Amino acid sequence: MSSRLSTPNIQLNEQGKLHHFLTLEGLKQHHLVEILDTAESFINPNTNEIKKVPMLRGKTIMNLFFEPSTRTRTTFEIAENRLSADISSLDIQTSATKKGESLLDTLWNLQAMQADMFVIRHAQSGATQFFAQHVAPHVHVMNAGDGQHAHPTQAMLDMFTIRKYKGDIFDLKIAIVGDVQHSRVVRSQIQALSILEAREIRVVGPKTLMPESPEALGVHIYHNMEEGIADVDVIIMVRLQNERMTSALIPSEKEFFKLYGLTEARLALAKPNAIVMHPGPINRGVEIESSVADGAQSVILEQVTYGIAVRMAVMSIIMSNAAQLAQHKAEHPLEQEEK
Ligand code: CP
Repeated sequence: MSSRLSTPNIQLNEQGKLHHFLTLEGLKQHHLVEILDTAESFINPNTNEIKKVPMLRGKTIMNLFFEPSTRTRTTFEIAENRLSADISSLDIQTSATKKGESLLDTLWNLQAMQADMFVIRHAQSGATQFFAQHVAPHVHVMNAGDGQHAHPTQAMLDMFTIRKYKGDIFDLKIAIVGDVQHSRVVRSQIQALSILEAREIRVVGPKTLMPESPEALGVHIYHNMEEGIADVDVIIMVRLQNERMTSALIPSEKEFFKLYGLTEARLALAKPNAIVMHPGPINRGVEIESSVADGAQSVILEQVTYGIAVRMAVMSIIMSNAAQLAQHKAEHPLEQEEK
């Protein structure tokens, strides 16, 4: 969580509405509530099925995953299909980037194929912001996770899941446990929970896995797991982000599980109806006991399912905002001349 990028308003259009979706930083509560409510509208309340709608018919969405993904990539692709968009997912390993083509040249070539939106995951913090600064004005960029910086659609599907199971977020005590320092998901979750005014946000983990100034996050810090999850409504476990650690920050995974692993005994310290969440991938026996991951209080797989509706919501809102802005400009040509 060392990287701090702070030009979030590049993602808003001149009407203050979403044009890209790069980070939750700087967004207002109404932006988030619109996403949650729109996602709800895509789910059939009787069957829980996610509807297919014609909203993005004729639009082309390109998925560029420079880093591995199971949940995000697949749910984006399903969401794009359910919105009736034309989609293309570039296989980076067999693309011309392997012949020395720069990322920007790749992007501009794909844009020349009449892309309307890019969904991008990249290991570098700030990569999606960089791409957003270099696409044509009518093209939109969705951040599917960039380095340690942000994973805003993951945080929004987490908020959607919490709201589904627990109701209003502002009544809730929520504990996020694990590798806070290296997690883009945690960073976005804390921003979302703050914007939605959660009653209490706790982060729990060893000092070595906390950012340098954790108090700057505006959360309660706990280094003792039992104290950190006592009486909470929601426990969000996150994995050790070993690929982002430059040195050994814990004695061993076994020791980490002993001190911070979510076991049935520890879960009993939270409220009796507390839910257990995890953005995935889960590491059984490292941050979570199998019986908890698969247990009655776990909503981990429901999070994955809700990711489809939430990603549909963000993409459809962005396209609808662009159409509204174009219509406004067509109806008020003098405003444009004055600018
Ligand atoms: N939660 C998440 O980002 O999972 P993937 O890496 O599988 O997309």
